[in-house]
Amino acid sequence: MRILVVGSGAREHALAWKCMQSAISSRVFIAPGNGGTGGLAKNIRIPADDVVNLVKFAKHEKIGLVILGPESAVAAGVGDAMRAEGIPTFGPDRAAGRIESSKAFAKDLMRRAGIPTADFGVFSEAPAAQKWADERDGRVVVKADGLALGKGVLVCRDREQARKAIDAMLVEHSFGRAGHTIVVEELLEGRELSLMAISDGKRALALAPARDFKRAGEGDSGPLTGGMGAYSPPPDATPELVEEALRIAIEPAIKRLAGDGFEYRGVLYAGLMLTEQGVRVLEFNARFGDPEAQCVLPRLATDPVRVMLEAAKGDLGSIERLEWTDRAAVAVVVASRGYPDSYETGFAIDGLSHIPPGVLVFHAGTRYVAGRGLVTSGGRVLTLAAVAGSVGEARDAVLAAIGRVRFPGAFHRPDIAQEAVRA
Ligand code: AMP
Ligand code: GLY
Repeated sequence: MRILVVGSGAREHALAWKCMQSAISSRVFIAPGNGGTGGLAKNIRIPADDVVNLVKFAKHEKIGLVILGPESAVAAGVGDAMRAEGIPTFGPDRAAGRIESSKAFAKDLMRRAGIPTADFGVFSEAPAAQKWADERDGRVVVKADGLALGKGVLVCRDREQARKAIDAMLVEHSFGRAGHTIVVEELLEGRELSLMAISDGKRALALAPARDFKRAGEGDSGPLTGGMGAYSPPPDATPELVEEALRIAIEPAIKRLAGDGFEYRGVLYAGLMLTEQGVRVLEFNARFGDPEAQCVLPRLATDPVRVMLEAAKGDLGSIERLEWTDRAAVAVVVASRGYPDSYETGFAIDGLSHIPPGVLVFHAGTRYVAGRGLVTSGGRVLTLAAVAGSVGEARDAVLAAIGRVRFPGAFHRPDIAQEAVRA
């Protein structure tokens, strides 16, 4: 089986690496890939949202399974176009992908499916949004409706913060088109949990739960990012909790989408808040989480290609549930100083040859330059991950190795998964 992974991040590197271990895969291509994936799979210079050329390539290379990594590929309609050519694709159609690309769509779906989520309103005029926020004393979260790379979410704790956030989106248009419509929702308190599931459009198989660390700084300080690290399994994510989340969040979403005519084939990711009142859905994503994939995929014992292919073909019939190692995994992101805001790139990356075996290095913002070697090319540069007997051991292994990675401005969060060690 020839496989095409679409995307260029550490998540896609982890997907390609995992597919290489499958008994079914013969060759793995990655479009466009990055400076690290070329040594593993074959990098193809086609952007993740270039539908026409991706389809042309997949047909020419007789690809048997396409795996969509980033939301941009889903939103561009790569899934629709591949399926129209009869090429099995793991990743939903564009219309179903609106569960991620439009927060208003997602909230409406949750309401209709009876999925527990924060109370909310959808606005395009600032005064109405402000009134809604004032009624909650400004304890609200203001979200750009469209895609904003994880940055279009402003958490507010008083009226002044809420006013600024609403003005930034609806008056100053600081978030461009993505923020012309906003969702304002009730601020929820609790611990977050990422639960992903693989769906064939009818059934869903839960992946191992993970916890992502979204703020840039130690102790959850600083701005929201796409994710600075993750670990699996979090001690508070009991099998009963996972079962409940599957039943009240994932399954109703897939059923509601199917009822609306959208057969969801791919990963559905529920970002959950574990509140004192129970599980609440913060958001859905139409893809694997990044960096969640980098700690969850290494724990998967079921053949990854078999399960993704069956989901892509719309029938997970032969798989009762996914199998996991009982070992734990920790993934820590090495980022460029300034991320998630502006940062410099083009710095040589040293020390990768000194990473001990057993620590996985998944590349994201790296590029191979002839004569210079590997250089930085993005905000999230690498994810280092390890699998070990406990979260603590996996964490120690990653943190011991991460000090060896050197480039100007490199930073990481030293407290990823620390909570699990303390617990
Ligand atoms: P989202 O992209 O909607 O998941 O939001 C990104 C992050 O903002 C989440 O991971 C939470 O940390 C935070 N967040 C979003 N919605 C809420 C909410 N209703 N209450 C508290 N925090 C939230
Ligand atoms: N780590 C959060 C996300 O992938 O959206």
